[in-house]
Amino acid sequence: MANDPRHDAVEVIGTKRDRGELTDDQIDWVVDAYTRGEVADEQMSALAMAILLNGMTRREIGRWTAAMIASGERLDFSSLSRPTADKHSTGGVGDKITLPLAPLVASCGVAVPQLSGRGLGHTGGTLDKLESIPGWRATLTNGDLLAQLESVGAVVCAAGDGLAPADKKLYALRDVTGTVPAIPLIASSIMSKKIAEGTGALVLDVKVGTGAFMQTADDARELATTMVALGQDAGVHTVALLTDMSTPLGLSAGNAVEVRESVEVLAGGGPADVVELTLALAREMLAGAGRSDLDPAEKLADGSAMDVWRKMIAAQGGDPDAPLPSARETHVVTAPATGTLTRLDALAVGVAAWRLGAGRARKEDIVQAGAGVVWHARPGDTVREGEPLFTLHTDDADRFARAVEALENGYDVGDASSYDPVPLVIDRVS
Ligand code: URA
Repeated sequence: MANDPRHDAVEVIGTKRDRGELTDDQIDWVVDAYTRGEVADEQMSALAMAILLNGMTRREIGRWTAAMIASGERLDFSSLSRPTADKHSTGGVGDKITLPLAPLVASCGVAVPQLSGRGLGHTGGTLDKLESIPGWRATLTNGDLLAQLESVGAVVCAAGDGLAPADKKLYALRDVTGTVPAIPLIASSIMSKKIAEGTGALVLDVKVGTGAFMQTADDARELATTMVALGQDAGVHTVALLTDMSTPLGLSAGNAVEVRESVEVLAGGGPADVVELTLALAREMLAGAGRSDLDPAEKLADGSAMDVWRKMIAAQGGDPDAPLPSARETHVVTAPATGTLTRLDALAVGVAAWRLGAGRARKEDIVQAGAGVVWHARPGDTVREGEPLFTLHTDDADRFARAVEALENGYDVGDASSYDPVPLVIDRVS
């Protein structure tokens, strides 16, 4: 398709700028030519902005996704002795669910190939969290990945460069051109990687609320519906849960602090909301893989999921018994009054954790393993004036002031009657 005389980038941009529909041929050409460097970054950013403003039809999104898949390799898990199921979250604060979920589902006999990314901005990355475990490494060859899926049943690792390279290049461009929040581009970005990964079943956790990409349930439902259709068209059994991200998950946001909380869940304890969401997603993954007869709660209770966790960490060089790193400095924020914690804002907590060093502003930044925020009450809990509400963790004490500032308008303490609980699982799209 090199130098295809039927197309040029300005004509493709013009079609979308003028609210036209791109043809299959235009889409195949522009995605391929951009990946090869024939279409320039400034041309692709103009097209991405035209897509953000004018949208895409279902046909265009499907074709765009297929073109991104075709830009790289596809993994094949058909040689495995068990079915596969994966989960993708659109990203949230305190979202450590992959950590207990992958070993839990594997302990039920369904293999989990979880190819993950690093965090950017206020939402944490699963690989950053796991890298706080001494020795653990995120990079595996495709051969190692397949072997570990067969022997352990669960792998969480970095997605290789061969998977949807068009998306890698386009996502980096969208990140610096204000074009991330376009539903057609988010849906095709996520689904091209998941379809190329080769999972048999997929459960999407689409977050809604202040700490998420999607601020309203209507937008989240549109994203979920688009992704479910893309997955099903590609033969992947796909369902989505819309889940609340106006409040952060659990009681911690950061790296090692979230690993600690995940291990508590695997040990049969942990915060109720983390357990609830882990089990809800596990049930969907098992159903997608044809194993709805199994009850994942039993595998948490009897220690089977913990056994898989230990093997999964050790298989990637990590020491599951090593003490997790702690930050050098801590700072406590106390409750300003006695009453009910009526609101805890996910974005405020995410920004505070990020400012403490748990996240990165640019791809090349290094995260602090011990940094993060731990909160001592969840919405609905009673707090007492002067008692600890948050403990902030960082290696650099000069980061505390900006983190405290981020939290200042991020919570309310009031009367129990003004507390309006939001369900964790808001909707299901299949
Ligand atoms: N995650 C992705 O992988 N892609 C997007 O576009 C947004 C979130």
